[in-house]
Amino acid sequence: MEQIAIVKSLVRVALAQGDDAVRHQAERLAAALRKADDKDASAIERLLSATSQSKNLAPSHLTKSFSTGFATATERMLPGVAVPVDRESSAPLATIVFPENNLAAFPVLAPGVTDTLAGLLLEWKNHGRLIEAGLNPSLTCLIYGPPGTGKTTLALWLAHELGLPAVVARLDGLISSLLGTTARNLGALFAFANRYECVLVLDEFDAIAKLRDDPNEVGEIKRVVNTLLQNIDAREGRGVIIGLTNHQALLDPAVWRRFEVQLAIPLPGPDERFDIAKGALSAKNHESIAESKLLAWVSEGFSGSELVTLCAKYRKRLILSDGESRAPFETISQLAASTSVHTDRRRVFDLANENTLTRVLATNQDIRFSYSELAHVLGVSTKTISRRMSDTVEGDTADAE
Ligand SMILES: Nc1ncnc2c1ncn2[C@@H]1O[C@H](COP(=O)(O)OP(=O)(O)OP(=O)(O)O)[C@@H](O)[C@H]1O
Ligand SMILES: [Mg+2]
Repeated sequence: MEQIAIVKSLVRVALAQGDDAVRHQAERLAAALRKADDKDASAIERLLSATSQSKNLAPSHLTKSFSTGFATATERMLPGVAVPVDRESSAPLATIVFPENNLAAFPVLAPGVTDTLAGLLLEWKNHGRLIEAGLNPSLTCLIYGPPGTGKTTLALWLAHELGLPAVVARLDGLISSLLGTTARNLGALFAFANRYECVLVLDEFDAIAKLRDDPNEVGEIKRVVNTLLQNIDAREGRGVIIGLTNHQALLDPAVWRRFEVQLAIPLPGPDERFDIAKGALSAKNHESIAESKLLAWVSEGFSGSELVTLCAKYRKRLILSDGESRAPFETISQLAASTSVHTDRRRVFDLANENTLTRVLATNQDIRFSYSELAHVLGVSTKTISRRMSDTVEGDTADAE
């Protein structure tokens, strides 16, 4: 191979990161060269065996990585790392999601939220450069919004984008034991997160705030909140903290202030619901696009999670319908009506008058249906849609007179 010198340098640098995925690729390269009877196969094999020896000699805590430029003392977290546990119950205080196992997809979010996220990610990815320039990048972010809007998914996706493990701690679990132990648990959790390059995700963040409502625990809870604040402050510059909550109003103002970026994730609007439904149906053809529009239309007021569930139910019905032809509107409105979500769209589901139903769908401002899309979802021909629309218009004119 002509460029073997460059390839060897690349492999050497990459293997020094100690990443198993990189090692796997280097092994593939060596195997491919060996198969092609390339004399350079042994050069790559030598590099592989040299790094595996030094890896075996080095204790895991000496394998350092400075990829993101977070505090220089942090270590690289390796699979099998000992996660701190609650001393009483032995329950782990956090779940670790390593980048290679992190399958979180970017949730569908409103354009404004996506722009804010892009800016935030840019700061995090260039943390080192900003510090060098004497600037202080924001490393704390609170994501809040109604249940099922994609907050946890988003936090995991951000960790994946940074190429870092996510240390996900559910604060409600962490404080479920005796309050006295909670402060100790928080200390252990932060000590662990500060030791490694990682993203600390504090899920169900309001759990701590909620405790304030318990009159028996006033003194103790103050201590816990203080411990939390101290730990957040002490982590400064050492890595990202993402707090997640459904009950932002319950949060102590002092806690709230600790987060430099506060990101609201509202319920999805019509465009987002359409994109979520399209994704959930893997919609590509005209029919499934029309069905995604209808799913987006009926799901006003749904969270992303509820909409994904509705789409899954619809897909099951399609598979189990065994060729029985039923208009998508019938199935979808029936499924939507049986969910517990309150939606104004429900009164339309029962409209007996086909002309009115057709017109409501055709003239709605949220989701634009073409006549052929309406024909598909209502199970009639385009001609029928045109007739129903002109009947309606004529009917309206007659009414007006
Ligand atoms: N905006 C979205 N785009 C795509 N999928 C979504 C979206 N919101 C929710 N989902 C779906 O719902 C599931 C649950 O979302 P997730 O757990 O991230 O919500 P959450 O906001 O953390 O909920 P909770 O407040 O109850 O913890 C996801 O796995 C995903 O399938
Ligand atoms: Mg969540």
